[in-house]
Amino acid sequence: MANNPDIDRAVSALAAGELVAFPTETVYGLGADATSDEAVARIFAAKGRPQINPLIVHVADVEDARKLGEFNETANFLADALWPGPLTLVVPKSRGCPVSLLASAGLDSIGIRVPSHPVARHLLRAFGKPVAAPSANISGKLSPTRAEHVAEQLSDKVSVILDEGGTEVGLESTIISCLTDPPSLLRPGGLSREAIEQVLGKPLQEGIDDQGRPLAPGQLHNHYAPGALVRLEAGDVRPDEALLAFGADVPEHSGPIRNLSPSGDTVEAAANLFAFLHELDGEADRIAVMPIPNEGLGEAINDRLRRAAAPRALDANGKTA
Ligand code: TXA
Ligand code: MG
Repeated sequence: MANNPDIDRAVSALAAGELVAFPTETVYGLGADATSDEAVARIFAAKGRPQINPLIVHVADVEDARKLGEFNETANFLADALWPGPLTLVVPKSRGCPVSLLASAGLDSIGIRVPSHPVARHLLRAFGKPVAAPSANISGKLSPTRAEHVAEQLSDKVSVILDEGGTEVGLESTIISCLTDPPSLLRPGGLSREAIEQVLGKPLQEGIDDQGRPLAPGQLHNHYAPGALVRLEAGDVRPDEALLAFGADVPEHSGPIRNLSPSGDTVEAAANLFAFLHELDGEADRIAVMPIPNEGLGEAINDRLRRAAAPRALDANGKTA
């Protein structure tokens, strides 16, 4: 685990308005002091992220979360049952909420998360203020599940990277809006819909876009894009493709291959998804992905894969930018 000197350096950097990459149980975050406009602006600049896209604000515990937002009965219930964990709750901002307007993109609601990763919690406690943190990747690229992924993309922009190896869940948090009743699913993620609905005792509403897909504001269709072209629901694999497999029944292939979960477990597959996409991206120009069931974390995996496969502009050589 990161030792105290590392956490101390990270806290000093945050206090100086600098950026810090830190592990959470979902993916690595690119953190800044959420109460400082200037520090938050550095996040948008480092990621090349559109400023219409609000950031998730991280705090050490539920009491701190209640200082930032108005928690109704349902929000309190979800927070008490499911935090700390891979869940973001969108609630109305509290009066006098100290979070920079830039972090919430001018909305009067706020996305808050209490992560469970011990180093994230240690950092948040030691800093003592809310930390705005999107995933620590360039906007639109694959999210980082290892410190190396952060260093590849952002090493010149961050003051400290707290390296804790691979993240446990591997997908970003599930985002639930408590602005509707029942609450709505804005982004499938590391906590399955089924797990949340079981706690809630009723189905979530869909937060949907114009094409009927779950959506949180600012989510781009071609988010999570590797450089390689991605072909989904592949029943076969072509010689020039890399294969991202799932389950026991894998087609013969002599090219690059990774199996998300030989036993067909969506939790294991989620943990491997971004790391394997990163790896295959370095080994082939095209990636074929076998079908993945839409249950459990499969819903979030398929959401990320659809975005990875979304049409992108090609350059003169037929490569993506
Ligand atoms: O697992 C995670 O959630 C990671 C780790 C670092 O915590 N963070 C993350 O943040 O994925 P980011 O910035 O990549 O995703 C934030 C998403 C935005 O796309 C936005 O749609 C949604 O959170 N969001 C934030 N505030 C919101 C609000 N007030 N209303 C609706 N959606 C909001
Ligand atoms: Mg992201």
